[in-house]
Amino acid sequence: MAVFAIVGAGLAGMTLARELNDAGHHCQVFEKSRGIGGRLATRRCDGWQVDHGAQYFTVRNEQFQQVVDTWCRQGWVAPWDVQPWLLNRDGLHASPDDRRRYVGTPSMNAMIKGFAQGIDVFTQTRVDRLERVGEQWRLWDDAGEQYGQFDAVFLTAPLAQSLALLPAGARAEVPLRNASMKPTWSLAMAFDQPTGVEPDAIFVREGVIDWAARDSAKPGREGPLEVWLMHFASQWTANHLDAADNLLQQQGLALLRTLSGAATGSDFPEPVDTFKHRWLYARSGPIETQVPQWDASLKLGLAGDWTLGDRLEDAWLSAKTLAADVRAADL
Ligand code: NAI
Repeated sequence: MAVFAIVGAGLAGMTLARELNDAGHHCQVFEKSRGIGGRLATRRCDGWQVDHGAQYFTVRNEQFQQVVDTWCRQGWVAPWDVQPWLLNRDGLHASPDDRRRYVGTPSMNAMIKGFAQGIDVFTQTRVDRLERVGEQWRLWDDAGEQYGQFDAVFLTAPLAQSLALLPAGARAEVPLRNASMKPTWSLAMAFDQPTGVEPDAIFVREGVIDWAARDSAKPGREGPLEVWLMHFASQWTANHLDAADNLLQQQGLALLRTLSGAATGSDFPEPVDTFKHRWLYARSGPIETQVPQWDASLKLGLAGDWTLGDRLEDAWLSAKTLAADVRAADL
């Protein structure tokens, strides 16, 4: 049995932990936040909740579909039967497709909480240094505490955070230095009156917001309020990293007003509560060179959506690939 450290408790980190635990190894997961799930995030507010990170996920890989089917049977995820609309320079119109979209129930990280039972997770622990001690690894957190020793360490936090921990000379260093992740402001608004917006999900191709969804219409969501969630475009977010609440809210309300068809100057409900979150590392850019995930000489691995693409399925596939590499390495 080997002892492994995993940095990051998002889908990639926890999938890897589950796989390696089930293969008979001992994994300890280190997570800087209070909870697990990473960008699979649901905020509970006063009497309402909202998914402020990943909005839904889709499946293209057959093996992943089988896993998602088991998650559905466990009640951890459910199909979100939503027909997308599109807002562009031609206006607002239905944009139906036959893609199946899934959400976690009752919160986005429900499946991670489900399959992570029995795995050691140190939350509110920000790893800020790795130290090679002979053939093993020791981890240090930002409070100067040390953890270890580990036979291998796996970095699964978003790209920039993983890169910051990557030791000089690691195989992945060069490909990763050419990659990046983009930020996204997330804004939620709760209303106690109907907004009058007809669609539940809108891809927006005009203006500063690129996605709006009636979060309260997702399966398994409870509460008396109509909750809207909007993601701001990455470029706009990058230019407004310190955007004030009222700027975000003005933009959000202006979009909802447009979506509702309400005339300028007419009454539109005011939100009874709002929530915002800035994701500094929300979406991966294109990967130009394949990222080597397993560095056998350093006993260091990398997993995350950013090693393959930018979708939830990529995070899962990335973790599965790394787990197979590690099992083959026979540590
Ligand atoms: P998907 O296949 O539903 O969507 C991929 C992209 O195709 C969408 O972003 C949208 O631009 C377009 N699209 C899909 N269906 C459409 C339709 N019926 N009409 C018009 N345009 C349509 O989902 P996938 O590929 O599994 O990705 C999940 C979603 O998460 C995507 O929307 C992706 O862009 C988004 N994402 C958002 C991030 C964020 O920070 N806001 C980060 C990573 C992914």
